[in-house]
Amino acid sequence: MAIGIDKIGFATSQYVLNLEELAQARGQKIEKYKTGLMLDALSITPITEDIVTMAASAAQDILTDEDKTSIDMVIVATESGIDQSKAASVYVHHLLGIQPFARSLEMKEACYAGTAGLHYAKLHVEKNPDSKVLVIASDIAKYGIASAGESTQGAGAVAMLVTSNPRIATFSDDNVAQTRDIYDFWRPIYSTIPFVDGIYSTKQYLDSLETTWAEYQKRHQSNLADFAAFCFHLPYPKLALKGLKKIMPKDLDEQVKNRLTDNFDISILYSRKVGNIYTGSLYLGLLSLLENSQTLKANDNICLFSYGSGAVSEIFSLQLVDGFRKMLRNNRMADLEKRQALTIGEYEKLFYEEADLTEEGNAKFDTYNTGGFALEHIQNHQRIYMRKQHD
Ligand code: CAA
Repeated sequence: MAIGIDKIGFATSQYVLNLEELAQARGQKIEKYKTGLMLDALSITPITEDIVTMAASAAQDILTDEDKTSIDMVIVATESGIDQSKAASVYVHHLLGIQPFARSLEMKEACYAGTAGLHYAKLHVEKNPDSKVLVIASDIAKYGIASAGESTQGAGAVAMLVTSNPRIATFSDDNVAQTRDIYDFWRPIYSTIPFVDGIYSTKQYLDSLETTWAEYQKRHQSNLADFAAFCFHLPYPKLALKGLKKIMPKDLDEQVKNRLTDNFDISILYSRKVGNIYTGSLYLGLLSLLENSQTLKANDNICLFSYGSGAVSEIFSLQLVDGFRKMLRNNRMADLEKRQALTIGEYEKLFYEEADLTEEGNAKFDTYNTGGFALEHIQNHQRIYMRKQHD
């Protein structure tokens, strides 16, 4: 039975920090960001937009009422969770109005967990062919003012509906994963920002790619010529480009090399303007590729490299389904252009604002622009969300 991605949606914040602003404020040359990291802008969230509101918006964009009666599992993958106990997917399940007899859970392993979510969804649909599983990767990447990672922050959620007979792409059942216990990037529960060993993390990313790819090739007698495109986890696009170059053998056929390089450029179009969205960033790359490539066609294979610090990596592939373009949008860039540009002062105030809780655990917020949902206030330590009227 063919199982895979039937629908895919995306949501990000309504505010953006153009990296020219950051470069000027931090005394850096803009070329460092635009060429050195291959980033142009970062999505910035206010306190009223969090992983729950973005996850709900990303899913709301793609789900019909019929989907909401068929979904029996909601998985939210995140490393910027809002509660140590209650899963973000429980809020999302409620905000979307999904039928009650569903399983809702949150998954964590840094930027990797969305991939585990897709795999669990696949196994579930294999046993229950009429089921639909909603997998959402939602995160806010926050490194701190003037930190090394500041220019790679971002925010967003990618929602995917996993079904049998999918209309976008099928899973090829070829996953190869690798785990290594390292401290390259981590966030203890007492810290709001991560600890990062930046250069070490880039080495681990590249080495995990190289070794997992070698194992994948060995197990599946496969090589780069089998793929129309290779999508990567995108902490910042330049690192992924280094990865692509690393796995391309010197004697790679020129046509294959050009195809993979051209499609790589297309896969980073959205991330260049959004920044790192942790769990969702691989899938934002996939979305960018699918929505902007003019050359992809049915039966093309797309290879994906998932990496989560700590670290777990996985390589697997998808095969495009006939008619996949009908399930995609072609005007997403226009949404990104609509975000409100922030000055450096506005960014620092907005992004780092924290709930000012009373002794009873109540907090009110100023009104900010959000997508279809917003965190309205906190009451007795409970987060109260609302669905906005116009949606
Ligand atoms: N013109 C053109 N390029 C320039 C330039 C200029 N004027 N100035 C600098 N550059 C280039 C540098 O040469 C460098 O490119 P190369 O790596 O190709 O040499 C690039 O810009 C970045 O410069 P630095 O290495 O000096 O940058 P930095 O001090 O900002 O640090 C970083 C980079 C360590 C990756 C930092 O951004 C960071 O800590 N990021 C967070 C951690 C991260 O993203 N790690 C990735 C792997 S971990 C992971 O994948 C999980 C995850 O999502 C976090």
